[in-house]
Amino acid sequence: SVFIIFLALFVTCSFVMFSRLSLTLAALSRGVSTSAQNNARVAVLGASGGIGQPLSLLLKNSPLVSNLTLYDIAHTPGVAADLSHIETRAKVTGFIGPEQLPESLKDAEVVVIPAGVPRKPGMTRDDLFNTNATIVANLTEACAKHCPEAMICIIANPVNSTIPITSEVFKKHDVFNPNHIFGVTTLDIVRANTFIAELKGLDPARVNVPVIGGHAGKTIIPVISQCTPKVEFPQDQLEALTGRIQEAGTEVVKAKAGAGSATLSMAYAGARFVFSLLDAMNGKEGVIECAFVRSEETACPYFSTPLLLGKNGIEKNLGMGKLSAFEEKLVSEAMDELKASIKKGEDFVKGRK
Ligand code: 2OP
Repeated sequence: SVFIIFLALFVTCSFVMFSRLSLTLAALSRGVSTSAQNNARVAVLGASGGIGQPLSLLLKNSPLVSNLTLYDIAHTPGVAADLSHIETRAKVTGFIGPEQLPESLKDAEVVVIPAGVPRKPGMTRDDLFNTNATIVANLTEACAKHCPEAMICIIANPVNSTIPITSEVFKKHDVFNPNHIFGVTTLDIVRANTFIAELKGLDPARVNVPVIGGHAGKTIIPVISQCTPKVEFPQDQLEALTGRIQEAGTEVVKAKAGAGSATLSMAYAGARFVFSLLDAMNGKEGVIECAFVRSEETACPYFSTPLLLGKNGIEKNLGMGKLSAFEEKLVSEAMDELKASIKKGEDFVKGRK
């Protein structure tokens, strides 16, 4: 039996060594075959703002990024100078004012847009429409002209309208690719993971719950029945948890008492989404994130579901999967609001000259 133990040890060690070796080989071959994407050029539009600054910091901290261009209407030279002293290889350049916008987008592979104004207490995300719709339309128009192939990640609210706005702008310029345009809803997933972990005493880093639908109030639909690890809640607790996830942005708006909405957790979530996208563009397999995108999964022309990401953006829409009766009800109750927000965004672009 001593022999068997030795044999078992030998086999285990060889296996561990072999898997280490194959990991190293995989890393090496990735470095060789996809070096271009390991040197990602990322642009942040709205880089001086509450989300833009911490988001740019996280991007500067990533080995995936080689060039980081920061655009805003104020303060970008200072933000860029500050970040440029950080001892990572990403080259940071600041651009200020509309006349420098085209240059900031030159060769961008991924553009992240946190630009716009945030909510104050008592406001819905839709109350931001009048201001942010114009900002997003102008910025995405520049993207359509100067980096039409780039992946566009929109954080600016109301996301349920700013994604349709982006698509319509790209259509106007004849460069629309639905696999490249993402409404970043990652913060809803991040919040759901955190709140569930708190309730169940789990490590939040190991919880993964899809959140589908849109990114405003009742259009935010956590699919807790599909959570990994599997979790169960009595119905009243499930409803309270779902409500907290839906109103979590408002929780922050209230706590900041007039000083804005979520910036740090949103920057984290935006960076998580961009890193997933860059990993997938880099050839990593099995990268899945939810995002609000052009969709055929429901009666809504845009809808967030888990997406398999790849070299060309959305590789495959994985759909809603099996929902509980409660979650199905949430989806049907969200439809009218979601459709109205989408139409409002589309009409806005059609009404612009
Ligand atoms: C949030 O969910 C700002 O919409 C963002 O907090």
